[in-house]
This record gives sequence, structure tokens and C-alpha cells, in this order.
Amino acid sequence: MIPSELIEYKNNSKKIIVLTAWDSITGSLVEEAGVDIVLVGDSLGMVSLGYKSTLPVTLDNMIDHTNAVCRGFKVHDKKQPLIICDMPFLSYQCGEDKAVEFAGRIIKETPAKGVKIEGAEPEIQKAISRLVRMGIPVMGHLGLTPQSLLNQGLKKQGENLNSQEQIKKDSQILEKLGCFSIVLEHIPDFLARDIKEYLKIPIIGIGAGIHCDGQVRVTADLLGLTDKQPPFCDPIINGKKIFTAKLQEWVKSERLN
Ligand code: KIV
Repeated sequence: MIPSELIEYKNNSKKIIVLTAWDSITGSLVEEAGVDIVLVGDSLGMVSLGYKSTLPVTLDNMIDHTNAVCRGFKVHDKKQPLIICDMPFLSYQCGEDKAVEFAGRIIKETPAKGVKIEGAEPEIQKAISRLVRMGIPVMGHLGLTPQSLLNQGLKKQGENLNSQEQIKKDSQILEKLGCFSIVLEHIPDFLARDIKEYLKIPIIGIGAGIHCDGQVRVTADLLGLTDKQPPFCDPIINGKKIFTAKLQEWVKSERLN
């Protein structure tokens, strides 16, 4: 699949299912689960690299992990889910030339077919516009944007009228600039539903209610593997507890042998 084909999902009311992956094992798990999109998110900073936030993640980290994820896939090319790679902090905020150079590295050096970028500030708009014109598909990301940790924290966004209007305006700008889809993170359900209704491009939600065109989850959160569970992602199993108990059992039994 290529990013422009996603619009058909929205037009046919077919839900878009997205999971993150960060290595070949998680790549193979989410591929076999049947997702439409695999996002190599910069949440890999926390779920794989042991950082406290996404801020330290580098472009080389993203490229290496995107390639690792894709090495986990069993099927080839056209049958694979769409791969989208996050552009890490400060890889697209320092001017359009650098944004093209760095997004270009992702497209040239990995099987990713698009990049995801957070925010809609004037500098970000310029970068998105240039990337789209140069043939690099861009997924937007509004609401809670984890790379804005130092000025926004990890708070729910769109809690007052001003913030709601800003997110709406930004989503329209991103569509106009040519983003093929937008992730809306941790905003009120009604706001995500409104945006989904007036935009033509698909809206993928996380902590944004059930009315989006699709849903994305960080796989480690969904499997209950992380220490700090976000308030908007209930785990489907308590992976950490289950795996730790099984490993402890094995370690004990080996000591007895
Ligand atoms: O980095 C990531 O995993 C993400 C998701 C939360 C959408 O951006």
C-alpha cells in the first residue's frame, strides 16, 4: 500500500488499524496481527532504548529500527502493511532543507513509505509543504505531541475553547498542505469526531475516542509491557506480569536441576 490509498479506507468507512513496532520481533507480531499500518514511532525511545522521553531519539535510531522492523515481516512488498517512520525531535524543525535531507534518508535507507511529523507551527508547515512537494508523504500529528514535552508536558490537549479552535485550524492547515493523514492524540472525543467529519483525509486517534477513521496504539502499552501506562490505553493483557512470572518460574526450575 502507498499512503494515498488510505483515503479509500475513509471513503468506504473501513477502519484503519495502526500499531507501533520497534524491532523485528514486534514487526513480525503486528504484521501477523493484520494491521494496515506499522508505525515505527519515536516512542521506541522509551519502549526499546530505555529513555524517559522521545527527545533523545536520533535519526540513525529511527533508520536502524525501521529496517529491523521490516526484517521481521514474512510477506513481501505490496502485501506488507504500510510502514511509516517518525521523524525524531529536531530533524524537521531546523529548516526545510534539513527536513528534506533527513526525511530523504528515511525514504532512501528504509522501506518506509512516509514520515510522521508533530505540530503545525509556521516552521513545521514550511517543512511539510516542501516534503510533500518533493514526493515524501507526510502524516501529521496534533493534540498531545510528545516532542513538545518541555513546553506542553504530557497533558490532554483541547480542554478549552482556544485550544480546540487551534487544533481544528491546524488540522485544516495540515490537510491543505497535503498530509495524507493526521494522528490526533489525547484530545476530547467530540473534537476528534468533528475534525474527522470535516476533513477528507483519514484521522487516526489515540486517546481521542472511537469516532476516528482509525486507531493507533503503542504496542508495548497494549500488551501491558510498559511500567507507565498512559491513561488512554488499557492493556489487553498484563504482559509484564505474565512474562516475568514465567521467567522467574524457569529460573527457579533451572536452579533446581
Ligand atoms: O511514537 C509513537 O509511538 C507515536 C504514537 C503515540 C502515535 O507517535
